[in-house]
Amino acid sequence: MLGCGMDKSTIVQAYAAVVIGCFGLLSFKGNKIEEWSPLLIDRNYVEIEQEAGQQTAPVNLTLLGKPDADILARGKSLYNQNCMFCHGEKGLGDGAAGVAMNPKPRNFKDTGTWVNGKNYAGMFKTLKSGAGTLMAPYDTLPVEDRIAMIEYIREEFQGSGKVAVSQAEIEEMDSLYSLASGVKAASKIPVPKAIQIVAEEELKKVERYKQALELLLSADYLPGQKQFVSIVADGESAIKILSENRVWRSDSNSLAMVVSGSNDSRAFKASSAFMSKEDWELLYQFLRTMI
Ligand code: HEC
Repeated sequence: MLGCGMDKSTIVQAYAAVVIGCFGLLSFKGNKIEEWSPLLIDRNYVEIEQEAGQQTAPVNLTLLGKPDADILARGKSLYNQNCMFCHGEKGLGDGAAGVAMNPKPRNFKDTGTWVNGKNYAGMFKTLKSGAGTLMAPYDTLPVEDRIAMIEYIREEFQGSGKVAVSQAEIEEMDSLYSLASGVKAASKIPVPKAIQIVAEEELKKVERYKQALELLLSADYLPGQKQFVSIVADGESAIKILSENRVWRSDSNSLAMVVSGSNDSRAFKASSAFMSKEDWELLYQFLRTMI
């Protein structure tokens, strides 16, 4: 076996770092990843296996940016397997798991500024090293698979809007990543698989926010519920904020700070700024009891 001889079934601790980077809601205990969910659901564990290192076939540089039908078909199937649940079937950044993410998964037609750039080398860098906090590296996938996905995204989603590949860009990618000579990758944790698990967790979270919201809305017999209804603009966004920023649980002042400091302006109404101290206290007691 190539690589450092790690057993395929080794559970990888280092992996937790990636997941923490992803959603900030995961902590780490022993040799397992522990996910704590602030709302409604108890802790649960996810185990992840390590993949052995692999030798990547040399890339034919003259074909970059000139995909044939085979590469595009391969790119499509890989994209649907690895990227679609966040970036959406048509690459508009509207996949089911991306709904609750901030920032949102990139819309590949986006003509604004991208973290690593929307040109070929930019996308290659993203798949190699990730982008921002929520887009993980995919360098456990063979280079030819990553290339096939980039080609598919360019042809299928960007079409005439794609940035043409220049010779200088190809040479630079080759010098950075030794594409033409083939690369031997180290043993790695299978990020795509893990991201998929995380994305599924994300879907569950959205479901949980909905449940929590229903609970809060239906409890109109409790003091503080009226205050909740009066300051919330978008219920699910509000629950997401309360679920992710647990600082509010200390006291009513902290709650007021979390509400006014949230950078999702859809969640709470601006009128919350005028709520009285007593109302904040009632609201705080209500939320503490309920979620
Ligand atoms: C778990 C959700 C998720 C999955 C799965 C995912 N992405 Fe992303 N992706 C994101 C998010 C979120 C961003 C936006 C990052 C930012 O703007 O900080 C992003 C950004 C990107 C970007 C733009 C980076 C830039 O320069 O701004 C590219 C290209 C990309 N993803 C490609 C892919 C490909 C190809 C796959 C599949 C192999 C994939 N993504 C899988 C969430 C995901």
